Amino acid sequence: MTTLVLDAGDLFGNRTKKDLKTAEFLAGHTAKFGYDAIGLGERDLNFGLEFLRRMIQEHKLPYTNANVRDAATGELILPEFLVIERAGVRFGVCSVMDPAHKIISMAAKDGEYEVAEPIATLRDLLPRLREQCDTVVLLSHLGDQPTEAIVQEVQGIDLVVVGHSFKPYNREKIVADAILLSAVYDGRVIGRADVRVSPESGKVMAVDVAVTSLDDAVADDPAMLESVNQFLEGLEAERLAQRAAFPRDLGSPDESFLGNANCSSCHKQIYEEWRKTDHARAFTSLRAKEMQFEPECLACHTTGYRHHNGYDEQQQSQLSHIQCEACHGYGTQHDRSGAMLKTARESCVQCHDNDNRPCFDGNQEAVFEYAKAWEKIAH
Ligand code: HEC
Ligand code: HEC
Ligand code: HEC
Ligand code: HEC
Repeated sequence: MTTLVLDAGDLFGNRTKKDLKTAEFLAGHTAKFGYDAIGLGERDLNFGLEFLRRMIQEHKLPYTNANVRDAATGELILPEFLVIERAGVRFGVCSVMDPAHKIISMAAKDGEYEVAEPIATLRDLLPRLREQCDTVVLLSHLGDQPTEAIVQEVQGIDLVVVGHSFKPYNREKIVADAILLSAVYDGRVIGRADVRVSPESGKVMAVDVAVTSLDDAVADDPAMLESVNQFLEGLEAERLAQRAAFPRDLGSPDESFLGNANCSSCHKQIYEEWRKTDHARAFTSLRAKEMQFEPECLACHTTGYRHHNGYDEQQQSQLSHIQCEACHGYGTQHDRSGAMLKTARESCVQCHDNDNRPCFDGNQEAVFEYAKAWEKIAH
């Protein structure tokens, strides 16, 4: 009796800065589970190759993948397969990923990786792998249906752990002689497969699968819980510190932003004009980059972020985007003295700041000229 501990990939989460910290934390804790092999998922590339390599090195994570190559060198980025000997049986463990899965990398430029077609990859690899092992295990980061299609196309796979899938199989599934087991996301379940392997042929003779939900019925490990809580407290402290770098001290606590809906009730025409501008989508741009909780971005992509009573990411208030009052100032100061027009003309450079814009990207042509810029969005 011996145990192989396997994971089909996607250890890391989304690709915001906060998620990068979470990825580091998860990598360290995953190492403590003592995995024998981990397949590569597209999320594991979210922070770029450098980061993945650093995590593998620092935490000795046994990643393997047979179809992702460094575009610059053409080399595989990970070991093509692992051979793990247990109780006299040599398990050859390999993994493939789907070229169609999007790799959104924060650190990497587009095209840092190339993902080869999984079927062709396995056709080439399996005969070589079989020479070195008795039982072939595929960590398939393809989801359930593509995996089932692949084991029908490619002969010689004994056991498959299916990743990139949201539906766990509750028991094993047999497709074209291969035995498929599935994992699900977020460590919500732990799957256990008791496999009997013929010592002579290396063939899998029998499998018995149990899937346990890691719900409230399973007690938390006290040391792990403590460590998770400490990590979350650290994240929260950091968030508060970041928020404090953008104090809400402009304007006055006695004034309020009334929001677009108020203004549009009397200035219908201007509201319709405004809706056509990018200002009306500025917050959506942050969401598209999963940066909608970053104070350094919210300062210019919402209304009144640095003012008393302005946009608040904790309350998800109605002041997202660059609304009327981002330029004209507090609605509670509405008069017809011309003051709100002056405020608006002077507002632009707070955000169209050529030096202090994290999204500026060094584009010299983007230098702000009031007259030209106003012409584009005038109402
Ligand atoms: C609160 C910050 C902020 C203020 C104030 C602001 N802008 Fe912008 N502006 C932005 C952001 C952010 C975008 C990009 C929105 C996006 O694409 O997500 C933008 C985009 C633009 C664009 C390109 C959008 C288009 O529809 O073509 C123009 C032109 C522009 N602003 C002009 C101005 C002018 C003129 C002023 C002052 C009267 C002004 N902005 C005030 C933040 C601001
Ligand atoms: C100092 C103000 C400022 C800050 C801070 C800021 N932006 Fe912007 N952002 C702008 C302005 C102004 C534009 C309009 C485009 C331009 O002039 O380049 C813009 C445009 C954008 C766009 C649309 C442009 C495009 O390429 O289509 C995105 C996306 C964006 N910002 C994301 C971010 C993110 C993410 C952050 C935080 C890391 C951030 N911005 C922080 C002012 C800012
Ligand atoms: C990007 C900044 C910006 C935003 C957002 C903005 N405005 Fe303006 N608005 C200005 C500027 C600048 C002027 C003055 C232009 C001038 O005459 O010099 C102006 C002028 C006006 C005027 C006077 C128009 C006139 O005919 O004299 C009204 C009313 C007004 N805005 C209402 C609104 C309302 C309502 C919204 C929201 C739906 C809005 N604005 C959004 C910058 C902005
Ligand atoms: C109850 C109706 C009403 C509401 C609500 C309203 N306004 Fe006005 N606003 C007016 C009228 C009337 C004028 C003067 C006539 C004009 O310039 O259109 C005016 C003028 C303005 C002016 C020109 C100011 C000046 O000093 O010349 C701006 C800017 C403006 N409004 C912005 C806003 C903004 C921003 C909001 C939302 C916070 C808003 N208004 C809400 C009715 C309203």
